[in-house]
Amino acid sequence: MKRYPITRPYLGEEELEALRGPIESGWLVQGPNVKKFESLFAKRVGVRNAVATTNCTSALHLGLLALGIGPGDAVIVPSFTYIATANAVEYCGARPVFCDIDLTTFNIDVNQVEDICKRGENPIKAIIPVSLFGLSADMDAIVEISGRYGLRILEDAACALGARIGNRHAGTWPDAAAFSFHPRKPITTGEGGMLTTNDDAVADKVRKLRDHGAEASDLERHVEKGGSLLPQFNMLGYNYRMTDLQGAIGVVQMGKADQILSGRRAGAAFYDALLEDLEWLITPHVPEGRTHAYQSYVTLISPGGKRYPRLDEMPGLNVKRNRLMAELEKQGISTRQGTHAVHTLAYYKKKYGLNDTDYPNALLADRLSMALPLYWNITREEVGEIIESVKVIMF
Ligand SMILES: Cc1ncc(COP(=O)(O)O)c(C=O)c1O
Repeated sequence: MKRYPITRPYLGEEELEALRGPIESGWLVQGPNVKKFESLFAKRVGVRNAVATTNCTSALHLGLLALGIGPGDAVIVPSFTYIATANAVEYCGARPVFCDIDLTTFNIDVNQVEDICKRGENPIKAIIPVSLFGLSADMDAIVEISGRYGLRILEDAACALGARIGNRHAGTWPDAAAFSFHPRKPITTGEGGMLTTNDDAVADKVRKLRDHGAEASDLERHVEKGGSLLPQFNMLGYNYRMTDLQGAIGVVQMGKADQILSGRRAGAAFYDALLEDLEWLITPHVPEGRTHAYQSYVTLISPGGKRYPRLDEMPGLNVKRNRLMAELEKQGISTRQGTHAVHTLAYYKKKYGLNDTDYPNALLADRLSMALPLYWNITREEVGEIIESVKVIMF
């Protein structure tokens, strides 16, 4: 049986060869390869600073700390996102204030952001707009609203390498952003993350925080400035350093990024074309002026006529979606729910006394979204086979 994984990283001989450097030199922790990866990443995204970390979650955590978020603060977070977005807020002792999404983009509903700010019941200090599945959130509106209400912005760009609004790449809006290199992301280093920012003070703080609070990194001490004395520590930091093995892989992956992103866009276009006449499946909507990076190709089950579902239609459609996903899996076709409605997860539900229907669009997206297999070299024929199975199962 042919298998269609949900995604497939593009790794090979080049990455194996790149690992020889750190293995032969014995320099395995954050060092020259991480530095090179950071500078390639900053250049590609178009930002002054890129700071590598162990993963996107740690980049989000440090980003919030560098923006001054701490105990007692509240941070707006979309209620449909990976749990890590909200967890990063909890790590700071702050409180996530959930906000519903726009079901057409799966991103935070900017009108509701404004409503939350107007209500003013929480001392809201920041917002984490998530550029979910590779589609930028409405960053211009978020910057505008945040300016009026004095919020700091940390974009969760975990999925957003290749995402643009006009010519502007994700991760370049103020104040900072965090990317992921988990294997389900376009480029991967296994685990891995990157904080990007045009604010040098934020970058400097994150560089120290990721390295136990050290005033100088190993590379600076041993190579760039010389000397073997230990550095000063002026703050409580963490060990969130990326290894140089990962950095070496990251450098190679940057060279493949164009190929990976264009291959994924081609795959998404095959799906768009082949799903056009399927009335009960809504394909990703890309607002005017935005470039979707398709970290995932996420569809939504419709009651028919490509109409967006209502909450009362959700339970029946959810049963159908789950059956479809289970049947596809039996045929070797992996699908996934897009991501989760975080306010429905036990930890958040209990801690903040939330109900599933508090954020109805997030709940609909949780119960009715379905990501289809997508990887850099998926062919039109493969997409055709997947769609054929989808249609046969549902009829
Ligand atoms: C939207 C979002 N935020 C954060 C993360 C966390 O990324 P990482 O696994 O690199 O910590 C992910 C990963 O799936 C994600 O999709």
